[in-house]
Parts: sequence; C-alpha cells; structure tokens
Amino acid sequence: MSAGDRHALHTVTAMSRLLCILVVAFTTHLVVPALAQSTVTLKVNATNPGRQIPSTLFGLFFEEINHAGDGGLWAELVQNRGFEAGGLNVPSIIEPWYKIGTAAQITIGTECSSPHARNPVALKIEVLCDNNDASLQCPKGGVGVANPGFWGMNILSGSKYRVEYWLKTTSSFNLSVAFTSANGTVLAQEHVSLNAGEWRKYSVVLMATSTDHNARLSLTSGTRSVFWVDQVSGMPTDTFKGHGFRKELATMISDLKPGFLRFPGGCYVEGARLVNAFRWRDSVGPYENRPGHYGDVWYYWSDDGFGYFEGLQLAEDLGAAPIWVFNNGISHEQSVSTDVIGPWVQDVLEGIEFARGPVSSKYGAMRASMGHPDPFPLHHVAIGNEDCYKPYYKENYMEFYKAIKLLYPDIQVISNCDGSGAALDHPADLYDYHIYTNANNLFSMRHQFDKTSRSGPKAFVSEYAVTGSDSGKGSLLASLAEGAFLIGLELNSDVVHMASYAPLFVNDNDRRWNPDAIVFNSWQQYGTPSYWVQQFFKKSNGAYLISSTMEADSASALANLATSAVRTYNASTGMEYMIVKAVNFGSSALNLSIAVSGISANNVVAADSHITVMTSGAVMDENSFTNPKKVVPQVSQAENAAPNMQILLPAHSITALELGLLPTKSSTATLEVTQVTSKDSKAPFLV
Ligand code: AHR
Repeated sequence: MSAGDRHALHTVTAMSRLLCILVVAFTTHLVVPALAQSTVTLKVNATNPGRQIPSTLFGLFFEEINHAGDGGLWAELVQNRGFEAGGLNVPSIIEPWYKIGTAAQITIGTECSSPHARNPVALKIEVLCDNNDASLQCPKGGVGVANPGFWGMNILSGSKYRVEYWLKTTSSFNLSVAFTSANGTVLAQEHVSLNAGEWRKYSVVLMATSTDHNARLSLTSGTRSVFWVDQVSGMPTDTFKGHGFRKELATMISDLKPGFLRFPGGCYVEGARLVNAFRWRDSVGPYENRPGHYGDVWYYWSDDGFGYFEGLQLAEDLGAAPIWVFNNGISHEQSVSTDVIGPWVQDVLEGIEFARGPVSSKYGAMRASMGHPDPFPLHHVAIGNEDCYKPYYKENYMEFYKAIKLLYPDIQVISNCDGSGAALDHPADLYDYHIYTNANNLFSMRHQFDKTSRSGPKAFVSEYAVTGSDSGKGSLLASLAEGAFLIGLELNSDVVHMASYAPLFVNDNDRRWNPDAIVFNSWQQYGTPSYWVQQFFKKSNGAYLISSTMEADSASALANLATSAVRTYNASTGMEYMIVKAVNFGSSALNLSIAVSGISANNVVAADSHITVMTSGAVMDENSFTNPKKVVPQVSQAENAAPNMQILLPAHSITALELGLLPTKSSTATLEVTQVTSKDSKAPFLV
C-alpha cells in the first residue's frame, strides 16, 4: 500500500467515523457540541417566585371530527347500532351492516317497528333456511347480519366484550352472537335460545379466544324464523375509568394532564344547517333513546354514544375543567333572529342545569339517573363557534350572556369575537381565538399577545395548529412552530388563560381534517410531534413564570429561538423544579448558556435533573403506525446540572431542562400557598 493509498484510506476511515458519529448523534438526538456556532445566554431571575400561570392554561379540545368519538374515543364497536343512519324513511340502507346468506336463505329489511320512539327503525330478519329440515339446510355458521364496526373491530384474545341487543320474535329459535373474522372464523361466541315474545333487551358478555383487529359482530341463526333486532351494542368491558372511553386513547390524553376540556366542537356544534347541529338534549340518557344525527360539516352519522354527558364525564375523569361549547342558534348557513332566540336560550339554561343543577331539579335529576348525582363543575361556556361575524351573533350573544349571568353568575362566558387587538364591544370573560397557519407564521406569532391590553377579557386560544404543506400529516416542523407559539402563550399567560391544539384525534380511515394530534385505527394509535410537543407544557399549568431574558451576539440565533422559564413545586416530595424550555427553530445547533440568579449551586439536585429533547434527522419527519416513535421526546439525566450551565440545542428541536431543587424556606412558603397543580410534577416528561 502506497503512502497515497494509506492517506486515502485514513481519510475514508476518518470520514466514515465522523459519519458514524453524526448518524449516532442524530439517531440518539444528541448533536456534536462543536457543530453549534452561536451561543445564546439566557439570564433567569429566580430571586422572586414569579407570576402564577393559570391552572387551565394548557388543555384539550375534543371535537366529533375524523370519527374522534364515534369510532374513536367512544369504545362502542358497532356502527349504526340502531339502523337510523340511513334515515327514517323505510326501506332504508343499513350500511355498514350486511347480510350473511343468499336471497334464498334470508331476507332483511328495515321497518319502523322499534320499541324506541326516538329511534323508530328496526331490522326485520326472515330466516328461510332451516337446519331442522334436510331440504332447507342453512350454510355453516347460519345466516343473519354482521356489522364490521368502524373499519374493523379490535377483538383481543382473553378480553371480554358486552353485547347488548333488542329483539322480538314470532317463534322460538336459536341465535348465535359472535365476533368473527372476515372469513367467518369465530373469535368469541354465545348460543342463545330465544322464546317467542315481544321486544326485550338481551345482554351477554363474550370472552374472545383469538385476536383479530379487523373483526365483526354477527347475529346468525340456522333455524327458520322471523325476528326483529334493534339497538345492537358491543363494548369492551375494560374502558377508561369504566366510563366507556377507549382506554389507550383516553390514557394518551390523560398523560397530557389537561387543565380543561373544550367540547364537543368546533363546526360540529354549528352544523352546516341547524337541523344537523349537535343538540345536548338528544345526546343524554340511555343510548336506546338517543336519536343520533348526521353531522353535515364533517359528513358522517354519529350514534351520539359520546354525548354531552360523556363530555362532562371525560373532563371529570381527566381532572380537567369542562368547557361546553353550545349552539347559539347559528349554523354555517342559518341564523335565528334575536326576536325568536328565547327558546334557544332556555334550551341552553336547561343544559347548564343538566350539568350542575341539584338532583331535585328536573335536569339535575336526569343527570342523576345516568349515575352522576353530583353536579359537574361547569364554570365555562362558549357561546357558539367562529360565529362573531355571522348574522345576529352579537345580539343573540347578549341574550345568552344576560340569562346565564343572571342564573349562574360564576360561569365564565366565552365570546367568539377576537379581543386580542382591540377591546370587545360586548361583555365577556374570555374571547375565543383560532389560528391555523404555516410554520413560519405561527413561529412569529409567539409575540401575538405581547401587545394585547392587560385589562379586559382573557384569550382562549381554543384552536391552534400549523396546517398546509408545512405540516405533512404531523411534522416535526409543525410541532416546533407550535412549541414556540405555546412558549409565547406561557409568557403572556396574564392575558391568555387557555389554549388547545386542534383537532385532537383522527381515525386514519376517515381523515376529514389534517393534521391532528393523535392518529388511530381500530387497534393502533400514535401521537404526532404536535401531540408530543404538548407534553413539554403539561407542568406549566399552575406553575410560576419566572423572568428570563436572552442575549446573543448573533441576531439570527436570537431570531430562531423561543425560551421561557417556570418554577414548580411538588407538595408531596417537597422538591421544587425550575424548567427552562427552548425551541430552536433554526437549522443550526445553538449553545444555550443558562445563568440563574436566586438559586445556589448547593440547592441543585443533579440526580433529579433532566434534559428532554425532541428533534429528528429531517425537519419534515413524522410518526406513523410503522414507526410511531420516530419523533418523540428523549429524556436524559442532566449531569452538569447547576445554576450556571450550558446545554446544546440541536437544530430544529425543542428542549426542556428540568432542574431539581432543594426548596429554600422562603420560596417554598410562597409556592406552597399558591400552587394549584402539583400533578406529577416530579416525573420527567415521558413518565
Ligand atoms: O378544528 C377543525 C375546525 O376548525 C373546527 O371545527 C372549527 O372550529 C375550525 O374552523
């Protein structure tokens, strides 16, 4: 080997080593310190306890969009359980139900013969074949109907499912209730002998012996018979807090420790036309009596298993303040004029009574009959959604506002009109603010509320997201702009009291809006980077914002950086934490030199200090069912934890430095008295 060859080999080896280091650095989300050209100094003043952030600042917005509830968070497996989705004019279409058997073996058709007045349609089934007659033998497994749920039912071996159905029959016969695969393989089954009789509700718990994520529920028979079925429901017995919410999805949102839950929409609340708007009254009580409705903004039928009651219940189960968005007589295409708005106002007052009236009240009693005698703490309502400039909004708003404040003076009323730039011309406690834009714009909007008047109603940023080509189906880029925007909201949390990403959920089989925070199908789910970025803010609710200022000799470094510092206190361990968050929106790594005054080195507990970073090899990287953790936060111990320390902010990243602090007497006294939430404040972000 010549000297030249040796030199070439050495160069190649050195290069591949460097490449290797870079690959490792990117895949483990560490970046070689030498790559950072600029240093930004963050001076944090922890000598004062700071200003408390509202305990509601970061929360959730749940809308029935993308099958978020029906076929999503609501664990009901059967789609169109009452056969009403095809309309009330019979004969009607019954999809996604389908017939098992040939025309010679079985006939089916809808009739208005249900025992449920609000759900008149039932399915008549006539079994023409008969296993008791050699000449009329039914096919193996019998004939009947099947429902594939919402793009397949997730049936898991060893799990139990409660199936309920209403049935009437003219003669005794045997029915098989089963979860099967598409090819008919039985996953769980029960044979039931039914006697002739009028409508009755039946209930059976099936235990699955095999797994199929694309299963269906079938009702079949091999006996010649005539029977009617209606209100067929299938639910896993294991749901979040036993309240019917799909466990994995509810756990994902619970992990965000939301301060509030806004529900049930969105445009869903408005409807394109009022006849299709969400109505609270139709979505409470036994499911057999809920008529369901066609949401004409997102174009699908929902059985309303997730209704007004379930929204309130979910908020309670998440430890979040419920925020009810109600229809104020305005849809996308229609507006009720103020002179006839009275009954709409009364309807809303009764809805509030349902949530929080005493058991002795008419609607409080209705709530109690659903198993919740205690009032729900409904202290916030939003009058409409995105309706400020629609006809009659402001006039109607005043009618709702006056009536609500008269009966429920403690309720905080949210207006649809933007008060961030100029004072509102009507009274409100909060105003709704929605922003969907590209990444650069949202990043720059971290200053949106800097100049907002410090007096007057507070902002409720109830919908924000990066959309369009910057977002893909949920990119790192989008999440970083959102992270910077949230830092801006945190810094302005004297005038911004609530914020939530939108939309929260998408069933990948029916993507009506893109992007979304959580993507799922019948059996899988993952968070987009926009979901994970929210994890960086969950400890801010009720924490203390402490003042911090950035200094750098490079204007571009400063221009690409958003930072904040908060302090939290964990009452159960007595530990305090200082959390510095930083979004580096630029394509170069930065050194962040942190200088904290007011905290002594002796007080920092390195063993309880962590650095959490979310970045990825490419800024448009996304998560997916096949690679759900491609872009997620990575937590490591902050070994050099100290009041004065340097951390590296990788290009295109969000970082949180969490310093564990032994409390000082004075800070503890202040923080302890006023700290509202200490939920999990000891755990690092991913725990
Ligand atoms: O979040 C999706 C939609 O965006 C909401 O329904 C609506 O309020 C907004 O226009």
